[in-house]
Amino acid sequence: MAYKVLNNVQLKDATGVSSLTTDMLVLVINKNTKNDSSFMELNKKSKNYLSKTIKSHVDQTGSSILLPKIDGINAKHILLVKGLDKDAPTHKWLSLYQSIAQKGNQNKCKDISVMPGTVSPKGKDELWLIEMVSKTIESNVYIFSETKNKTSKKPSVKKLTILTTGLTGSKLTKAKQAAKVGYAIGEGVNTAKYLGDLPANHCTPKIIEKKVKAMTKDFPKLKVKSFNEKQMHKMGMGSFLSVSRGSEEPARMMVIEYKGGKSTDKPIALVGKGVTFDTGGVSIKPSPGMDEMKWDMCGAATVFGVMSTLARLNADVNVVGVMGCAENMCSSKATKPGDVVTSMSGQTIEILNTDAEGRLILADCLTYVGKYKPSYVIDMATLTGAVVIALGRHASGVMANDQYLADKIIESGEESGDRAWQLPLWDEHQSCTKTKYADLANIGGGREAGTIHAAAFLSKFTNDYKWAHIDIAATASYSTPVKAGTGRPVPLISQLILSKKLK
Ligand code: BES
Ligand code: ZN
Ligand code: MN
Repeated sequence: MAYKVLNNVQLKDATGVSSLTTDMLVLVINKNTKNDSSFMELNKKSKNYLSKTIKSHVDQTGSSILLPKIDGINAKHILLVKGLDKDAPTHKWLSLYQSIAQKGNQNKCKDISVMPGTVSPKGKDELWLIEMVSKTIESNVYIFSETKNKTSKKPSVKKLTILTTGLTGSKLTKAKQAAKVGYAIGEGVNTAKYLGDLPANHCTPKIIEKKVKAMTKDFPKLKVKSFNEKQMHKMGMGSFLSVSRGSEEPARMMVIEYKGGKSTDKPIALVGKGVTFDTGGVSIKPSPGMDEMKWDMCGAATVFGVMSTLARLNADVNVVGVMGCAENMCSSKATKPGDVVTSMSGQTIEILNTDAEGRLILADCLTYVGKYKPSYVIDMATLTGAVVIALGRHASGVMANDQYLADKIIESGEESGDRAWQLPLWDEHQSCTKTKYADLANIGGGREAGTIHAAAFLSKFTNDYKWAHIDIAATASYSTPVKAGTGRPVPLISQLILSKKLK
């Protein structure tokens, strides 16, 4: 099963653009536009109506205007959008193209043709621009409608044409590849958005398992292993299994292997928290907003999305993805505060708060993934409410036992517009995990630095390799103005892996 929205992304030379058949022609206006030959052609056909409209209506950054059909120009609509200057940070470019994608759907366009112009952010070339346009349009024409009436709104935009000027030979080949990469990352983002947006009763660990297995039909290069509770029990995953104890829905750990690189290359490992619903367990959460805990599996959804992107692109890398899926419920069988369990690592854990369940799942997944002798391990998890308070909604929180890895994650966040920011993880933060009744406690530190204390707990299971933890509780979904998943951090992780920075 693939989660693409667009059927087709193509590049086309902008020459003769006035006769291009398209539902919406998008012109991104910048300081070079007036001298652009394709723009001059369009402007002439419009008898200078375009240049006049730009002067009067498309002056400020962020301004745009949708024009009806103009005689002499074939496009059904023309959208004029004020572009950004080269100093604007990358995430602002994403917002601009996000609004273009949404306008396409709002106006029921079946296809849109975008002329991105020749200005790109400082240090980025036109290939970056093409990849970004393709990625951002694909991931923003997405509309979730699966659990709505069949007549409800679906994305109308099914085709994207990116109009370029004067690209030939090897440059054109590279540009086509950039469009393909962007499209594949956008598809990965949509995969993660879709899994997150699915209500928890439509997205149990077993349902996710079905979807993961179905993915191998599209991508035979992906090898999937799924472990049930009995198998996990045999492996000694008492920490993980303590989370699903209270639920009728059994847990699953899925492992997706992708080998596109040399057989001797150690894999990068991705580990994702996949709590399909987090009630908090016996340490139950308050009711308001509890529905948002259906997005508590977005770390696992990111693993799913990134693996599909890599397979789609036939990327020459080795990556193993682990998805730890469970439902955290309360019942007479549920784990109780004070219960002590034994993790796969052998360390015992006193569960002082059953709502700190993500780290219990990750602990065993992180131990398990050590068997792959990974070059780097990155876990992604909607782990703490505290990260929303610490960093706000724009950046994911990064903590690591390896500074090079942390640096590369933050760099990839800037490059992809899917930003992350580092928090410290010092020896002093480790004291919180002490308890009288077990080797570790799953909470500690009181109200102080909740995000870091969660990472400190995880670090007890990551001594054997280079590791980073990304807390995505604030970035994987949002609640205003509407509730929705974002598909983050698929763009960041895809960028990190595809750019081969981790060598
Ligand atoms: N899934 C939550 C974290 C979360 C909160 C994600 C808000 C998205 C939005 C996690 O399992 C949790 O409940 N964490 C607790 C930890 C606490 C008990 C130490 C929290 O953040 O309150
Ligand atoms: Zn949770
Ligand atoms: Mn919780």
